[in-house]
Amino acid sequence: MVEWEELSTLIRTRRSIRAFQDKPVPEDLLLKALELATWAPNGGNQQAWRFSIVTNGELIGKMADAVKAKTEMMAAWPEAQQFGDNVSRWRKTSDFFRGAPVCIAVLMGRYSSVADQILRARGETDPVAREIRSHREAGKSSLQSAAAAITYLSLILHYFGLGSTWMAGPLQAKTEIESLLAVTPEWDLVGLLPVGYAAESPAIRPRKPLTEVIQFFR
Ligand SMILES: Cc1cc2nc3c(=O)[nH]c(=O)nc-3n(C[C@H](O)[C@H](O)[C@H](O)COP(=O)(O)O)c2cc1C
Repeated sequence: MVEWEELSTLIRTRRSIRAFQDKPVPEDLLLKALELATWAPNGGNQQAWRFSIVTNGELIGKMADAVKAKTEMMAAWPEAQQFGDNVSRWRKTSDFFRGAPVCIAVLMGRYSSVADQILRARGETDPVAREIRSHREAGKSSLQSAAAAITYLSLILHYFGLGSTWMAGPLQAKTEIESLLAVTPEWDLVGLLPVGYAAESPAIRPRKPLTEVIQFFR
């Protein structure tokens, strides 16, 4: 088994990396990391995830352009003015992944448990079934499964000395990115991970004390 100290150090030293060296990432490392990440727990072991690995710089540029265009559009809305400096910062950073040698787009598929099938068969008329369906939708297994894979992936990449950032921001250009990556309708883009060798060592982002985030029911 892995030593606690090693595991703890691996987890604690992972940082979101947003600046990358101009150095290619060996494909075999990416494949090794992705293969191990697919051992993440996932709903019904349906493994309803796909990973699009983009190393084509022009394509990464187009995805970044699409995100930037959406940022500029939203930043120009009158409602954005009240958020002042935060908007200015966001305008500078939302497309930082443009500088990454690799971007991994994570796609979520459809997951259907037996409960989902019963609820679907029950139809829209029963309010109890509707409520259960909405609760399942709020914490949907397919999204949780993709998140588990991304968690594993970021840690494994870190193990290999590679930096990455888990990004949901690019979803503002979901339609454009899905079109650029020829994503078919049964899949949904849920995250983007720029990956590369770090060109920065970000400060630790402290975590809340455990007492603030746990509650025992003994
Ligand atoms: C679901 C999710 C979405 C995120 N989206 C973005 C994003 O769009 N842009 C970004 O720069 N960082 C994004 N992050 C990274 C977080 O900002 C980062 O994990 C957090 O600030 C803690 O810093 P650390 O990862 O260095 O520990 C996201 C993280 C998660 C888990």
